[in-house]
Amino acid sequence: MLSLPDFPWDSLLPYRERASTHPDGLIDLSVGSPVDDTPAVSQQALASASNAPSYPLTAGSPELILAMAQWWERRRNTGPLDSTQVLPTMGSKEMVGLLPTLLGLGVSDTVVIPTVAYPTYAVGAAVVGASVVAEDDPDRWPSSASLVWINSPSNPTGAVLPEDYLVRAIARAREIGAVLASDECYAEMAWEEASSPSLLDRGVTNGDVSDLLALCSLSKQSNLAGYRAGLAAGDPVLLSSLLLARKHLGLIMPAPIQGAVAATLAEDQHVQEQRGRYRARRELIFPALRAAGFRIDHSEAGLYAWASRDEECWSSVSWCSERGILVAPGSFYGQAGQHHIRVALTATDAACEAAASRLRA
Ligand SMILES: Cc1ncc(COP(=O)(O)O)c(C=O)c1O
Repeated sequence: MLSLPDFPWDSLLPYRERASTHPDGLIDLSVGSPVDDTPAVSQQALASASNAPSYPLTAGSPELILAMAQWWERRRNTGPLDSTQVLPTMGSKEMVGLLPTLLGLGVSDTVVIPTVAYPTYAVGAAVVGASVVAEDDPDRWPSSASLVWINSPSNPTGAVLPEDYLVRAIARAREIGAVLASDECYAEMAWEEASSPSLLDRGVTNGDVSDLLALCSLSKQSNLAGYRAGLAAGDPVLLSSLLLARKHLGLIMPAPIQGAVAATLAEDQHVQEQRGRYRARRELIFPALRAAGFRIDHSEAGLYAWASRDEECWSSVSWCSERGILVAPGSFYGQAGQHHIRVALTATDAACEAAASRLRA
């Protein structure tokens, strides 16, 4: 049997119970699950692709391949990509969790992850029995590493990795012979700059994408979490071996979802509208957290406030729960997060307004 860590959210249960006793009810800001409607363009495309008797293509339909390639070029500045450089995934989480497996890593391999990180990077390594090293500085990535994860914008901190870091990361990964995988699930949610640079940005790669992989997701930018819609792009050699493994394993994005994703990627307007909603929620929640004595670190991108009162994170979680607000303790994301909480902006406007007024009270 696999030996995996307990699902950390279970340990929040007592705080959820406490927050639920608030006279005006629980406000759940502990998870980043979108609450706004799926755009009409996606719903219509899903409906019109619903007659799907045949098996879909693992590589994606020609329409989807074209839409993915055009999206990476238009939104992530990759330069032109061909069909061998893009791949659909069923949300990005499965690819994050399965990448070590699909790459054939095992007990003698080492996977590097960020020091404050989305837990699935380590889970994916645990599935194959690989060792995990948490290290942000490329110069300190061990020469034994086979796979390095970076995440920008970061969940939970909201930090963006600048281009010069990405260039250094590529150089170091190539020096040690590791695959460099960049999780860019919050790519469209950068607040202080127009965007956050992709690992595959041509200014970063200079056209050489060997051993590079970037992942993105439609869950956040297009409210498509329920469809399970993700995208991978990068090195054609790497992608062809991932595609082969995915064909054998039946890891195929369903045909109606492929239709919906193709249509959704071709439209940028709804993403801008969604950004506007999150920007308004940031403007409610961030000042209210500061008024309650929290400092907000990083958070220049993404869908969270990474907040601290320099106390143990569970004290902050408990303080919030007394106000009927559930937040995530930073320790869920590694030891380095133990003095922070992660406050999600993925709640309705009304819930964010209520949370802000409870924090200020
Ligand atoms: C950093 C990061 N990567 C990947 C995912 C997975 O997203 P999805 O599977 O919905 O694409 C999430 C979800 O919250 C995330 O925060």
